[in-house]
Amino acid sequence: MNLTLRVWRQAGPETRGRMVTYRVEEVSPEMSFLELLDVLNERLTLAGEEPVAFDHDCREGICGMCGIVINGVPHGPQPATTACQLHMRHFSDGDTIDVEPWRARAFPVVKDLVVDRGAFDRIIRAGGYISAPTGSAPDAHATPVPKPDADAAFEAAACIGCGACVAACPNGSGMLFTAAKITHLGLLPQGQPERSERVRGMIEAHDAAGFGGCTNTGECAIACPKGIPLTTIGRLNADYLAAVRGRQQ
Ligand code: FES
Repeated sequence: MNLTLRVWRQAGPETRGRMVTYRVEEVSPEMSFLELLDVLNERLTLAGEEPVAFDHDCREGICGMCGIVINGVPHGPQPATTACQLHMRHFSDGDTIDVEPWRARAFPVVKDLVVDRGAFDRIIRAGGYISAPTGSAPDAHATPVPKPDADAAFEAAACIGCGACVAACPNGSGMLFTAAKITHLGLLPQGQPERSERVRGMIEAHDAAGFGGCTNTGECAIACPKGIPLTTIGRLNADYLAAVRGRQQ
């Protein structure tokens, strides 16, 4: 396959960026999108040019590092697929592909396709800890958890914190991410002692980081490569209301 890439190049946080066009030839359909960027970077390096900066780690869809916007869609055109798991067979010979970083106020561009997602870390940190007795591991059946709660907690825990939800949202909201983190602890017995404190702290950190509010657009759930459902935000809202009312009483 021969492709034309239009890639966002930006030397640093304070400099203006622009789309730069590159021609990449003899691309294998079996390559992942990140391997395509590897090929481009090898050619740029050999030509004495600055390679394109992009984030990645596991390349297996589990670390959440590889967030980029491909043809205007976070992680590209395949549903439930991270950019590192997206293969070039989903594109056609002769295609022109736009590659951009996440666009959100809370995720400032560091360089080229790399953004600072430290705002997510601050939300996690605001969630604090869970109270858990130390000692030997308890019997697996000592604390029964209803199956629907266990399933919903596991579903929420699948969030990899990639930020696609924020990039897809017209408000730049981080509510789906925050809701996933609150839900996976809030549905389990171990998450109960700090439940109210946790949701208040995480929402405050979310708003302080510059994320927008949720207006139920639903783009976040569509873009999420792990299928975190929009109903997770409903759980967050219920938890937050209960926590705020509890504090007022
Ligand atoms: S590099 Fe880890 S999810 Fe893509």
